[in-house]
Amino acid sequence: MGRDWVGWHAGYDVTESSLARRLVVVRQYLSSALASAAAPVRLLSICAGEGRDVLPVLAAQDGGRDVPAVLVELSPVLAARARSTAAGLDLPRVEVRAADAGATATYAGLEPADILLACGVFGNVSHEDMCRTVAALPALTKPGATVIWTRGRRDDADPSREVRSQFRAEGYTELAFCAPGDARFRVGMSRRPETGRP
Ligand SMILES: C[S@@+](CC[C@H](N)C(=O)[O-])C[C@H]1O[C@@H](n2cnc3c(N)ncnc32)[C@H](O)[C@@H]1O
Repeated sequence: MGRDWVGWHAGYDVTESSLARRLVVVRQYLSSALASAAAPVRLLSICAGEGRDVLPVLAAQDGGRDVPAVLVELSPVLAARARSTAAGLDLPRVEVRAADAGATATYAGLEPADILLACGVFGNVSHEDMCRTVAALPALTKPGATVIWTRGRRDDADPSREVRSQFRAEGYTELAFCAPGDARFRVGMSRRPETGRP
């Protein structure tokens, strides 16, 4: 991922941009996942960016401040922004790891998550790496965990189909899927099976 990810986040500030609209959906999905998860809840966001999808939701949700949340973000600039936002929102249980989300060492010592966000990830890796990532999620989550993910469509194809199909192949149940006709973003929310690999 060699892009300007700091600049990419400016898209969130453009009213009615696809990214701003996507953010609304991701926050809604996260809010509903938090509301329906049995306490204690642990959250993990991979390639978390500034944490715009996670941090305001934790601050607004009943019990959200008690949720231990780990945000993994490679860019030190974006990780510092996420830390600063978490401090400003009084979220002391948020930990931001400025580290490679693709390296297993990054997750050392972490309890498995009840809710995992993989937003802005699958469009930036190959099809094979998307499949590998979905297959690896049980190493990071509890059985029954909720995964919220995004994928953009192109003019000629909608690769979110492949992501949905990969989650299905891994035994996940789709809880929600949003694919507006007038925008390129897609957001999915899938539940890991209760049984299967630890
Ligand atoms: C498309 S943005 C998504 C950010 C956030 N999840 C969101 O949806 O707002 C992709 C993010 O992944 C980060 N990133 C890229 N490679 C990474 C890696 N190997 N490990 C962790 N983060 C990475 C980038 O710095 C960027 O912030």
